[in-house]
Amino acid sequence: MHGGKGFGGGEATRDPAPTYINPNDPKGKQQAIHKAESFAEYLAKRGGGGGAMPSRPTSGRRPIVGGNWKCNPASPYDLPALVANINACDTSSCDVYVCPSPLHVGIVYQSFNNGAYVAPQNCNFKGCGAFTGEMAVDQMEAMGIKWCLIGHSERRGEFGLPTPAESNALLATKLAYILDKGLNCIFCIGEPLPIRENGIDAVMAECRAQLNEILPILRGLSDHSRVVIAYEPVWAIGTGVTASPMQAQETHAGIRQYLASAVSPQLAANIRIQYGGSANAANAPELSAQPDIDGFLVGGASLKPEFAQIVAAIAAAKASARF
Ligand code: PGA
Repeated sequence: MHGGKGFGGGEATRDPAPTYINPNDPKGKQQAIHKAESFAEYLAKRGGGGGAMPSRPTSGRRPIVGGNWKCNPASPYDLPALVANINACDTSSCDVYVCPSPLHVGIVYQSFNNGAYVAPQNCNFKGCGAFTGEMAVDQMEAMGIKWCLIGHSERRGEFGLPTPAESNALLATKLAYILDKGLNCIFCIGEPLPIRENGIDAVMAECRAQLNEILPILRGLSDHSRVVIAYEPVWAIGTGVTASPMQAQETHAGIRQYLASAVSPQLAANIRIQYGGSANAANAPELSAQPDIDGFLVGGASLKPEFAQIVAAIAAAKASARF
């Protein structure tokens, strides 16, 4: 089985060597863009190996920005304004997704007219049936939903939510289920403040710990655009304290290097890594200029019209990087 350990004794039996090819994936065209480039070539283009930071990245990765509405808005009458913020985004050079609250997914999921994807904020891993309060990937698939977000720190036990903290093993099971059902996944990771205070080595150890369970799944992934890593330092979420561009770049590069060694250079070169944590229109341009930042996962600012400016900022930064 892939997906690492089971959860609560509920191990699913799966193909030991899965490939995740979704023939209906409308992003087939992206596979050409994301075609294999060795990590050595990637590093060479970047101007060196290891921690070198290039000035002109040419990653070929299509940017991706998500808006996480979390548990907002209170009233469904406020949804049209939030939908308008998403529809105002130019998606011609950037993928856009939105994570409405579970109650509102069914209201808005057909409201987006610019190709923005709906990505529920969570899912179960068993399908339909006697799972009170849960959302099944099967239901999402039947609604035509293509993406699902999992592993947000607010579901991993941060901020004292009264829900059971989601373990790395559970999240690996969910990821496998999402991919098996033909959906794509935004997989969130990130360290809390006490770990960041211990320096980059401690941060990378935590990121590796949060990724280790999904390595077997990533090794079986044929289309590397189907999983997006959202790196979200917990101390930056909702605090107004954004990671500096150097901090974010260093961590993103570290994650990519880890994936190169633990999965493959090709996957590391292709997989998109978003930054999340107090991203907004003001800080997006400088963060977007970092070569290993491929997009943003935006909370608070996704409830405002400035969300479209964040999308525009990364699209412009990556377009200019190609020349
Ligand atoms: P924030 O939230 O942009 O409000 O910091 C980001 C997130 O939690 O995804």
